[in-house]
Amino acid sequence: MIDIHSHILPFMDDGAADWDAALTMAQAAGKDGISTVVATPHHANGVYLNPAPNIGQAVEQLNQRLRQAGVMLQVLPGQEIRIYSDLLNDLEQGQLLTLAGSRYILLEMPSSRVPRTMEETCHELLIQGFVPVIAHPERNAEVAADPSKLTRLIELGALGQLTAQSLAGTFGSKLQKLSLDLCRRNAVHVIASDAHDNQHRPFGLSEAYGVLTKELGATATDFFRQNALKIIGNEDIIRADYLQSHTKLHRLFGFFSRKG
Ligand SMILES: [Fe+2]
Repeated sequence: MIDIHSHILPFMDDGAADWDAALTMAQAAGKDGISTVVATPHHANGVYLNPAPNIGQAVEQLNQRLRQAGVMLQVLPGQEIRIYSDLLNDLEQGQLLTLAGSRYILLEMPSSRVPRTMEETCHELLIQGFVPVIAHPERNAEVAADPSKLTRLIELGALGQLTAQSLAGTFGSKLQKLSLDLCRRNAVHVIASDAHDNQHRPFGLSEAYGVLTKELGATATDFFRQNALKIIGNEDIIRADYLQSHTKLHRLFGFFSRKG
């Protein structure tokens, strides 16, 4: 499995505290069935500043340490960028990173609201050939109250990234229900861990995909897994209505069952 959002890089933010913590997180990722992780330290969220060059160096070091320790996990560079006024300018100045060097860029909104400038920022990025990936929209209060706040951005061309723990139910049944609702609306396109440690915010991708398969079918799981792979490969993601085809298959199956 591929994980496009994690805080595995040490000394950057509220993720891994040191190299040992990063190493044990990498081991846990492997146990969960993850082969590649994009390291996405917080940037410009009011607490942490992690410009692109710092992240690139740290990713190189972590990969070296993982190889030395015999841990077969590939770590790729990325960044979780809070929406801020100089974002477009800083992107031009090489201070920001996309996900694994692709056209996909991970954006974080404040948890309480959808910023006024969100549509404009997404629009501008899309014009420049980038694809905004909105981190954990299910954890945004305005989106939770009114999912059309998110679907407007998706219609513009942005993507939604659901957090594994939200879907798995670790953050409560309300958030799990909302997560499944956003899946059914085609408002989210990829699932990622947003892992910060091995205890409270672990990887948990296999558990989330398990819930997804149970609730929405194997086609849905395949759709999300493929999209994570496509993002790091800088390929076009699938925006097709997978649930519609899932429902159609079920109807067809029901039809043949009745015939039989
Ligand atoms: Fe994050």
